[in-house]
Amino acid sequence: MRPKAELHLHIEGTLEPELVVELARRNRIDLPTFDVSAIRARYSFANLQSFLDVYYENLAVLRTEEDFYDLAAAYLRRAAAQGVRHAEIFFDPQAHLIRGVPLDVVFGGLSAAMKDSDVSAALILCFLRDRGAEEAEQVLRAALPYRDRFIGVGLDSAEVGHPPSLFRRVFDIAASEGLHRVAHAGEEGGPDYVWQALDILRVERVDHGIRAMEDPRLVARLREERIPLTVCPLSNVRLRAVPSLRDHILPAMLDEGLVVTVNSDDPAYFGGYVDDNYEALRLELGMTGEQLDRLARNSFEAAFAYEAEHSGGARPTGGPLDYAS
Ligand code: HPA
Ligand code: ZN
Repeated sequence: MRPKAELHLHIEGTLEPELVVELARRNRIDLPTFDVSAIRARYSFANLQSFLDVYYENLAVLRTEEDFYDLAAAYLRRAAAQGVRHAEIFFDPQAHLIRGVPLDVVFGGLSAAMKDSDVSAALILCFLRDRGAEEAEQVLRAALPYRDRFIGVGLDSAEVGHPPSLFRRVFDIAASEGLHRVAHAGEEGGPDYVWQALDILRVERVDHGIRAMEDPRLVARLREERIPLTVCPLSNVRLRAVPSLRDHILPAMLDEGLVVTVNSDDPAYFGGYVDDNYEALRLELGMTGEQLDRLARNSFEAAFAYEAEHSGGARPTGGPLDYAS
């Protein structure tokens, strides 16, 4: 199996239906169904929002540090089996704070699982762009006591109507704290969102970015500055950002000389983990071993913290500023 880094992975998107059911039973939470295949049968999506509705609903079962530990430990086991040597893992603290789950629980469980894994791993804290810039700033300030537990910030959730430009201030604060910066842009939004992410948020990687290919000047910028793009082929098919894998623009992105990487996004929902994405590119797009090797090499070049020690070690130095309580 080809060694690779995974750079676009939402830990909440690795919540498999089996674990949904197990955690619901453990936490005595009622579900519309406890039938795993019935849960999975709902995973047919018309667009990003229809996926996000299910994704946020399922999070109700994550309540304790042990739940977050089990979630991350299961992902890291699967990742290791798919050749992942290093993972930079997104998490959505606001999705938990608004349910009354404190940051301490989230960081505690995720960090402990990362510490116990042989896969090198680091966390990237994502802001839910549809909840606005003010709340993003609150959550960043609340997370700063855990500054040694995460390496960067990102921007995710419903893209269109929530442009990067709104988040200038919170990304400036993140930069002043020495945090890395990434943002989802150009998944459903146009090339203008990618320009804003680069010029206003000063991102060092673009998540998805497939629609950047509509703007030749933008392609030239990404190539010249070697700004990596974390592309998620199976996600793009499942969320109908592309009509089919055969129509995916990824090979053209590589031909343009872009630093493209392959990632799984929300593998519990999109039909495969990261090596399944590589395999789909080989089978359906006929990508060669040489091309796939290049994608894997790019993933290490694009990583922020491959050399760094696991970020899960130290205990927090202060209590969380839990604005939800
Ligand atoms: N796109 C945007 N936000 C997300 C995604 C995604 O694929 N997964 C989880 N949050
Ligand atoms: Zn994503």
